[in-house]
Amino acid sequence: MAKIIVVTSGKGGVGKTTSSAALGTALALKGHKTVIIDFDVGLRNLDLIMGCERRVVYDLINVIHGEANIAQTLIKDKRVDNLYILPASQTRDKDALTKEGVETVLNELAKTFDFILCDSPAGIERGALLAMYFADEAIVVTNPEVSSVRDSDRILGVLASKTKRAEEGKEPVKEYLLLTRYSPERVEKGEMLSVDDVQEILSIPLLGIIPESKSVLKASNSGVPVSLDKESDAGQAYLDAVDRFLGEAKPHRFMTVEKRGLLQKLFGKRRAV
Ligand SMILES: Nc1ncnc2c1ncn2[C@@H]1O[C@H](COP(=O)(O)OP(=O)(O)OP(=O)(O)O)[C@@H](O)[C@H]1O
Ligand SMILES: [Mg+2]
Repeated sequence: MAKIIVVTSGKGGVGKTTSSAALGTALALKGHKTVIIDFDVGLRNLDLIMGCERRVVYDLINVIHGEANIAQTLIKDKRVDNLYILPASQTRDKDALTKEGVETVLNELAKTFDFILCDSPAGIERGALLAMYFADEAIVVTNPEVSSVRDSDRILGVLASKTKRAEEGKEPVKEYLLLTRYSPERVEKGEMLSVDDVQEILSIPLLGIIPESKSVLKASNSGVPVSLDKESDAGQAYLDAVDRFLGEAKPHRFMTVEKRGLLQKLFGKRRAV
């Protein structure tokens, strides 16, 4: 049965689209048929990060309005089997999304996909509410700073009250914390909240810690989801997060400042064998 997952945050610019692209790609790499839907109507960023912006012909709103069917609208990733993108419209406004329309699209996708990832816009208005409404699970993307944690906490309240599962009194949406742009150096200096601080406030299971990394900007500038860059720390962190999501027990990494030993200091990156 298809699982609908919303990638959400409340606060803007914390890494939802980066995470949707990286997690969706990693799920597909594991052999699961995955579609990532861009719910950010009016902005449309996911296709850029996935490197398929020139292949967008139809979008989510066209499907909802019956101007195109899903097969015409889905973009198949050229690098990874099992991976598809459903782009957002750049020209319409958020009111073009309707609950019934979104439900029809999700029901159609659920017939053939294992995972449906919904990349939510920021805020708690229409677009964000619709992105989460039909979710079975939620990945709450949070940066280690007070304003982001506070907005994530608000989103947890909304997930518990304004989703279909909440309205129908079903089992609640399963929530996971994804801590992104984590910098152990800045935590040590007291400039950012630590993993423990954030977990204490939000009290939801930790899916992963994604380090602040130059590889993220490099990847998004070249239209490559960072989880395809297996050498990068952020890429590895996303791959680990997906392993955990699929039930594997993996210890968290990238939590502490890497201490360079004497040999590493003397010989740079080379390792003593
Ligand atoms: N781990 C990271 N390390 C460094 N930069 C990052 C990291 N994650 C995200 N960023 C950068 O943060 C910015 C915002 O990321 P992104 O667009 O994914 O956020 P968003 O939550 O989707 O934003 P919006 O709310 O506008 O949709 C981008 O410039 C991205 O490259
Ligand atoms: Mg975004």
